[in-house]
Amino acid sequence: MTRAVLLALVLVVLLPGTAAAGVSQGEHLYGRFCVSCHGPNGAGRLPAPSGTGPARDQTVLLGSGPPLVGVGARAADFYLRTGYMPLKRNGIQPRRSRLLLGPVEIDSLIAYVASLGNGPGVPQPHPERGDLSEGQHLFTERCAGCHQIVGAGGYVTGAVPPPLQAATPVQIAEAVRIGPYVMPTFSRSAISDAQLDSIIRYVEYAKHPDDRGGWSLGHVGPVPEGLATWFFGMTVLVALCVVLGTRLRRG
Ligand code: HEC
Ligand code: HEC
Repeated sequence: MTRAVLLALVLVVLLPGTAAAGVSQGEHLYGRFCVSCHGPNGAGRLPAPSGTGPARDQTVLLGSGPPLVGVGARAADFYLRTGYMPLKRNGIQPRRSRLLLGPVEIDSLIAYVASLGNGPGVPQPHPERGDLSEGQHLFTERCAGCHQIVGAGGYVTGAVPPPLQAATPVQIAEAVRIGPYVMPTFSRSAISDAQLDSIIRYVEYAKHPDDRGGWSLGHVGPVPEGLATWFFGMTVLVALCVVLGTRLRRG
């Protein structure tokens, strides 16, 4: 009994302390990895001095990350856990990459970015409540134009929509609401939370579609299929010519 009370007391004293330590560690990491592009306190790129155009080295120094005040834990969670951030250099598309920071460091950076202003928290989707066929329909209509019908990634001008294999349900929910890079932002009136659950359910399903018969070729559609037939056919034809040629020469 007394032990439980003591433990509770210790927790009450320590927990707010650890949260604050998280934010201050986050601030420290921010200074090391993020401030060059996102500016002090997440204020974003500073305005160029008026009159003259921005000096070249100044642009490089100030970077061109967007302001982070008010983007909330949602954007920080998405951009950091996908390895999109810290971006290697300006002017490139953020891509999923190996995480530079450990989980504790990422937690503290998220806490710091969230502390910069009032912003949305990390979403909690429920794909198990979604409807698979509604999800497939919505995905085909809203997402497949860029991400292909089974979420295998595709091409748009100036950016590469990534395959969705590695995206977790939370990251799918985040991406749809944030609209990273050239991806459009879908508000709740464009895609309700219930519809989003269905979309996530479909994307999760599409990661392991049951293939009945045939060779899926990565589910990328008719062009690679045609190409595969072409290359396979060509190889057979060339091999045939070589065999025939040798025979003719021998004979
Ligand atoms: C105009 C093209 C376009 C449309 C439409 C689009 N996306 Fe995207 N999506 C992108 C691009 C480009 C990225 C990469 C963003 C980046 O690099 O910062 C992306 C990233 C993502 C990611 C993160 C994937 C990862 O692992 O890096 C998810 C998840 C995602 N999109 C889901 C969706 C869903 C679900 C829809 C439909 C509701 C959708 N997208 C509609 C272009 C699009
Ligand atoms: C080389 C410059 C650069 C560095 C370094 C960098 N960022 Fe970024 N960041 C960008 C750019 C450019 C974008 C806009 C990307 C986009 O449109 O998807 C961005 C976007 C973001 C976003 C999304 C903002 C929004 O409006 O939704 C977050 C959150 C973020 N960065 C956090 C960080 C954190 C945290 C770090 C440090 C670990 C970091 N960034 C390091 C350039 C940078």
